[in-house]
Amino acid sequence: MSHAEDNEGTRRDFLYYATGGAGVVATGAAVWPLVNQMNPSADVQALSSIIIDISGVEVGTQISVMFLGKPVFIRRRTEKEIAEARAVELDDLPDQLDRNANKPGLDASDENRTMDEAGEWLVMMGVCTHLGCVPLGDGAGDFDGWFCPCHGSHYDTSGRIRKGPAPENLPVPVAVFLDETTIKLG
Ligand code: FES
Repeated sequence: MSHAEDNEGTRRDFLYYATGGAGVVATGAAVWPLVNQMNPSADVQALSSIIIDISGVEVGTQISVMFLGKPVFIRRRTEKEIAEARAVELDDLPDQLDRNANKPGLDASDENRTMDEAGEWLVMMGVCTHLGCVPLGDGAGDFDGWFCPCHGSHYDTSGRIRKGPAPENLPVPVAVFLDETTIKLG
């Protein structure tokens, strides 16, 4: 029996627990090859939901996890990041749509993009909407959020495009809190 057949029975309804550090690393373009290596097989990529333990994520840091073959950033924002994001007028945004799979069709206000009312948790795809590079995080770029060095796209602390060639905000995937230290993607 092939490896693929071995896994056939568990593939469809199996939730992958990305706890304890495996598959969860500090963010940034530099660690992308590492994340990619840690994602061992097409079986894992095919899973439709994953559960992420966020209990170790400190304020002002983020983790990257692999979901459906792409990096997802989970950031626990500081008060300053939240205030910056919430002070922005919609008219100042090149892309005024939220790009949020949880709440389709809403505007790109920070309140619409974040997981919780206070805006501490931001979950979004770590894929530049220009040509798909992985943006650098941790206050990078002119707007203190994320910066894509491939062609110079600057995203703000809400992951919204503010300057450069990327046409859209970083998309927010389907995500829910299962409890206060656990997020389910998908
Ligand atoms: S891929 Fe990000 S700016 Fe071109």
